[in-house]
Amino acid sequence: PKRVLSGIQPTGTLHLGNYFGAVEKWKHLQDKADGDVILSIVDLHSITFPQDPKTLRTSILRMTATLIACGIDPGKCILFQQSKVPQHVLLGWVLGSLTTMARLYHFPQYKEKSESLKDIPLGLFVYPVLQAADILLYKSTHVPVGEDQVQHLHLAQHLVHAFNNKYGVTFPIPEYLVEAQSGAGRIKSLKEPGRKMSKSHPDQKSRIEITDSPDEIRSKIKKALTDFTSEVEYDPENRPGVSNLIDIHALATNKNRTDIVREAAGLDTGQYKLVVAEAVIAKLAPIRAELMKLLDSKEYLDNVLAEGSAKAETIAAKTWEEVSRKIGFDDRH
Ligand code: TYM
Repeated sequence: PKRVLSGIQPTGTLHLGNYFGAVEKWKHLQDKADGDVILSIVDLHSITFPQDPKTLRTSILRMTATLIACGIDPGKCILFQQSKVPQHVLLGWVLGSLTTMARLYHFPQYKEKSESLKDIPLGLFVYPVLQAADILLYKSTHVPVGEDQVQHLHLAQHLVHAFNNKYGVTFPIPEYLVEAQSGAGRIKSLKEPGRKMSKSHPDQKSRIEITDSPDEIRSKIKKALTDFTSEVEYDPENRPGVSNLIDIHALATNKNRTDIVREAAGLDTGQYKLVVAEAVIAKLAPIRAELMKLLDSKEYLDNVLAEGSAKAETIAAKTWEEVSRKIGFDDRH
């Protein structure tokens, strides 16, 4: 049977990259109802970078509300908090013993984040191992993510082979689902179209967040970096700025790029930006309205996570029991 798993860090606000690259796809998979969909708010991952304890719980609830506002339905999928299911850490430890430091050194996320730090937390280094545990713990078959996560998934696949070879076939090889063709898998920064749009980038204007007001959206898109050619054309190689706007526009309206470019004939990029801004505003308006309602319902959000985490743990405990037996921690049958 198909089992879909994915995760998101609770810190920062969901942006268009997360939305188009991951969350919207999760919603489609959930609505297709072909197999289980399990979604994790990965708080254990988020503390690999310093977090303020006073705001972390709030961020977790906020991310829960955000996903629900985007159409994730806790009645149709398992939406849970990673740290409430201790087997993630247990399996992570086992998997850490099946890989090498040399393999982990080259991960881009580690390289990028550790560059700005004098002392690098061990947690940041082993981050991808915990991510592999997230995936294996549910015997997941499909992992929908943005392109930036592909290397992490290669490690998960490698660890499936390593475990299965050593202890007997236990885990399926997880397949990743990345939206490459539409550009959704890699939405670019509005300020540096060579890089991905990112939650943690210090410049707020580099991303559009799901909670941005219409004025903020207009202003950010107006200031998005393009080039000195005024024509609107899709050419990601040579004109990454305007091409990123076309991708965003296409995703926000469900139109294809060719139609979008045709409709933009005669507009210069400055005028075109206003069109894109209005499309994004229209796309986000209902999500933002829903989110504002949900943010007041702390009790409901607490409940969603508690129930989701209990469901996740039922599956996780079963896998962990099997793993324990295979490794030799346990001899019960
Ligand atoms: P995170 O929290 O950084 O991002 C959540 C999801 O959003 C995608 N994404 C993007 N997609 C397109 N364009 C962008 N600019 C963009 N930026 C982010 C990410 O690829 C991701 O799918 N390590 C993961 C969380 C994680 C996980 C897992 C994912 C932990 N365990 C197990 C899958 C399976 C992360 O930091 O995602």
